[in-house]
Amino acid sequence: MLATGTSPLTKTDSYEALSHELAEAIVKQLREKPTSCFGLPTGNTPIGCYKLLSRYSQMGALDWSRAHCFQLDEYVDAAADEQTFAHFLDSNLLGATNVPDENRYSPNDYNNYDELIESRGGLDLTVLGIGHNGHIAFNEPGTPRMSWTHSVWLTESTRHANKSYFGGQTVVPRRAVTMGIETILSSRKLILIASGRDKQEILERAMLGNVTPEVPASFLSLHPHVTVITDFEV
Ligand code: F6R
Repeated sequence: MLATGTSPLTKTDSYEALSHELAEAIVKQLREKPTSCFGLPTGNTPIGCYKLLSRYSQMGALDWSRAHCFQLDEYVDAAADEQTFAHFLDSNLLGATNVPDENRYSPNDYNNYDELIESRGGLDLTVLGIGHNGHIAFNEPGTPRMSWTHSVWLTESTRHANKSYFGGQTVVPRRAVTMGIETILSSRKLILIASGRDKQEILERAMLGNVTPEVPASFLSLHPHVTVITDFEV
């Protein structure tokens, strides 16, 4: 564990090790506080961790029955259910757990997601990936710090990055709803995960550069309990 800027950095040797590290942190949180509220991302980076958690859950090693899981973000104009982040989380993790259906939340389904989160006790642990342009959740460059859950137009670079899920740029949704920067910073603990050398430059800007809306992930350095897990040197 190294101290880089204000964020404790856990540098692992491989994607598998990163996945284990993240899974361990989630398991610890769930065991210490079974009623935990989690903020969960979609994307490629958490998949290895979700596979581990799915396996532990199916073995009966994890009890999610009192946990609450909040999606970070969701498309608003997905053409089919299979394209939604709710579907992604269900098929990669939640479907293998005993999180009650009523404790799984999408920002698309609520007028006041932040109030809902608050009413469930507030986020305990929120996991975030980072986009090549520095986005966290769907807070694209230019998002102000004072932002709560809101709807957004996606940048072309984000739509391009997500197109593998959609079989062609033209059908990638253009709009999404996302937790804002303040929503994320209100979580008691944060974990930022980044895998692959192609994330190194933007992660370094986020961790070591100025705090600026141009790199939304840089706002994370304002949080007192953020851990960064990578599988490369920073
Ligand atoms: C997804 C999300 C995004 C991703 C980011 C990194 O719910 O909020 O911010 O975390 O785009 O995606 P991957 O992990 O695919 O590189």
